[in-house]
Amino acid sequence: MTFNQQEPQHPDSQVTGNPSPDIGEPISPELSIPDSQKIAPQRRQPRRPKGIRPTFRMLIGLTLMTALLLLPFVFSDQYLEIMRSRAVDLHGVLRGGAYKQITGFLAVGLVAVEMLLTVRKRSRSWIGRIKLPGSMQLWRSVHIFLGVALVGMVLIHTVGANGFNFNALFLWVFFGTTLTALVGVGAETGILESSRQFFGRLPGHRRPLTKGPLIRNLRAFWLASHLFFVGAFLIMLVFHIFLVYYHRGPLGLG
Ligand code: HEM
Repeated sequence: MTFNQQEPQHPDSQVTGNPSPDIGEPISPELSIPDSQKIAPQRRQPRRPKGIRPTFRMLIGLTLMTALLLLPFVFSDQYLEIMRSRAVDLHGVLRGGAYKQITGFLAVGLVAVEMLLTVRKRSRSWIGRIKLPGSMQLWRSVHIFLGVALVGMVLIHTVGANGFNFNALFLWVFFGTTLTALVGVGAETGILESSRQFFGRLPGHRRPLTKGPLIRNLRAFWLASHLFFVGAFLIMLVFHIFLVYYHRGPLGLG
């Protein structure tokens, strides 16, 4: 991707100035193009924020990596059966209590770090006013990379087994948590980095759709879905731990 113009970097800092004729799609003459002079300078010429930020290319890489990490869940019925019949000892270790507990607690640790994003974002308005060091940019990036690491940890914890009953549902809710965010943030970043300035028109609207409103609407949808899954996931995590320690038996894994 080439950036022969300044790059917009945040949904709230969108470029809606005059289109350059040498980039992006040709813009049809009947589209009403907003006057760039009416747009505040910081919105017209946003600066790329300093620090790490997963680019669209990185996010595509992370999505592919996640797809690879999810692949064993598709084939686990076959390979777990082979493990059961041919490598009883290995299978025994992988299903043993110590393995499950260590990998389980590591996964819970990653979940706790994932939740620190909320603490960093909102705690300054809380009663305790906890202040975490580091920029939101940094915490967002850490959150995204650790989210994918958590998928890897869940694969290690479950050995790819889909589980039964409660655990099967719990696993799907976890997949929902990560996939809504990964697809959402990937699409958002793709639009943000795109050299196009206009994205067609909504039915019944005269003005063409620009990056800002498109990303804001997309974000409202994917972030709400992500948070819905996060809420369900956290409640189910508590039940999962309760079932493991106080209701040994129908764990359903393996
Ligand atoms: C691959 C996995 C994940 C990705 C890519 C991801 C990505 C994101 C992104 C981009 C945001 C929006 C941050 C912002 O700009 O405000 C977000 C919000 C959030 N995520 Fe995730 N996430 C993932 C997994 C998780 C997991 C596993 C949890 C916890 C169990 C979680 C909990 C949250 C919470 C609580 C917020 C809301 C923060 C707030 O607005 O207060 N995420 N996530």
